[in-house]
Amino acid sequence: MSPTPDFYQYDARPVAQISVEHQWLRLDWEDGAHLAAHALWLFENTVGIGTDVSTREGLVDPANLRLDMSLCDAVADVTGARIVVTFDDALDASFHTGWLHHVATGQHKAEGHLPSQVPWTTSDFSHPPSHDGGQILGASEALIGWVNDLLTFGVARLQNAPLDPDFGLRLGEQLGAIRDTNFGPIWDVRADVDLAGRADTNSTANTTLRLGPHTDLPTRETPPGFQFLHCIANETKGGWSTIADGQAVVDALQSEHPEHYDALTTLRWIFFNRGPGIDHRWSGPIIDLGVTGSPLTIRAFYPVRGFPDMDPVDVPRAYAAMKVFSQLASSPRFEISFPFTPGDVLAFDNRRMLHGRTEFTAGGRRHLRGIYIDHDDVRSFARASNRRRQPASSGGTI
Ligand code: OGA
Ligand code: ZN
Repeated sequence: MSPTPDFYQYDARPVAQISVEHQWLRLDWEDGAHLAAHALWLFENTVGIGTDVSTREGLVDPANLRLDMSLCDAVADVTGARIVVTFDDALDASFHTGWLHHVATGQHKAEGHLPSQVPWTTSDFSHPPSHDGGQILGASEALIGWVNDLLTFGVARLQNAPLDPDFGLRLGEQLGAIRDTNFGPIWDVRADVDLAGRADTNSTANTTLRLGPHTDLPTRETPPGFQFLHCIANETKGGWSTIADGQAVVDALQSEHPEHYDALTTLRWIFFNRGPGIDHRWSGPIIDLGVTGSPLTIRAFYPVRGFPDMDPVDVPRAYAAMKVFSQLASSPRFEISFPFTPGDVLAFDNRRMLHGRTEFTAGGRRHLRGIYIDHDDVRSFARASNRRRQPASSGGTI
């Protein structure tokens, strides 16, 4: 039996009605699923001809497409597991009905096998959804449970994780490639304050100051997708973590302050990471909606917001809109606040969540270790894991 154009196993999904109309194969299933498949797309997905058997990747350079390719016939085999399609040049190709059904039901889309995002406010919870981090390395069920919460709510905490300073790296490596930056693959957040109270650091993060609601590295074309902050020591007072769901804040802004929403989604700022030997810049709006289907990217970190990149007449309304946005994000309606305990790993979507911290008193140690990992890697891990747990035939989480 020829393989499918991927590496998954499918159950047969016998088709109720099959018809061929020139270049189109039309399929209907008893459950209401319907698929119109074009001859060229079917040809590209013919394993052994349009798709390579070992890589399961496409082989057809579009320059070589025969645009008038059409279909002559399509019949189901006796088991209902396959449909054999005959092309106009007499080529017979067989397609698995489970694979065709997964396309008909949209499980092949970018959001396939990922949990839907659920916006939240402080009326939903006062602490982030929390999981045990003690035995999580190598525990695939525990990992995917935590990651699914992270994708759903944009924040999920581990508690009682090991205090090994490199635990964050080990955790990230379970999911995919760590996103390195000029701060290194794993970086420290700790106050380096001298006796005169001055911080010797190139980042506001390494002072004892409050950090208002923000996202890290808006200075990048694509800011890191996720951030894991691992607390390995905390003897200070204050320094509580704060977090608000930026998606919920953006939704409220859009309905309650449409003029500010308009300003924040269109007026651009230049974000700027400055330091000896580095000069990272990006220009974008505070609420960056990207193209259709892009994940929300909030660019909000006043320490690195450098210059307005807009018509000067727009500057006053850009400031007015930012003020309201930041006030909403830190208001009791949206922002939860909770202490950092050694062994906590606060994981969050760095482009959707607005995180921060309260001011803390220097004197005791407070030491966080952070890593970034991109959306792509976490989503790939989640799709592959969720698919293994829920085969496509059981309906899966789409
Ligand atoms: C940061 C940051 C949070 C904290 O370093 O960007 O948000 O609790 N730190 O110190
Ligand atoms: Zn931060």
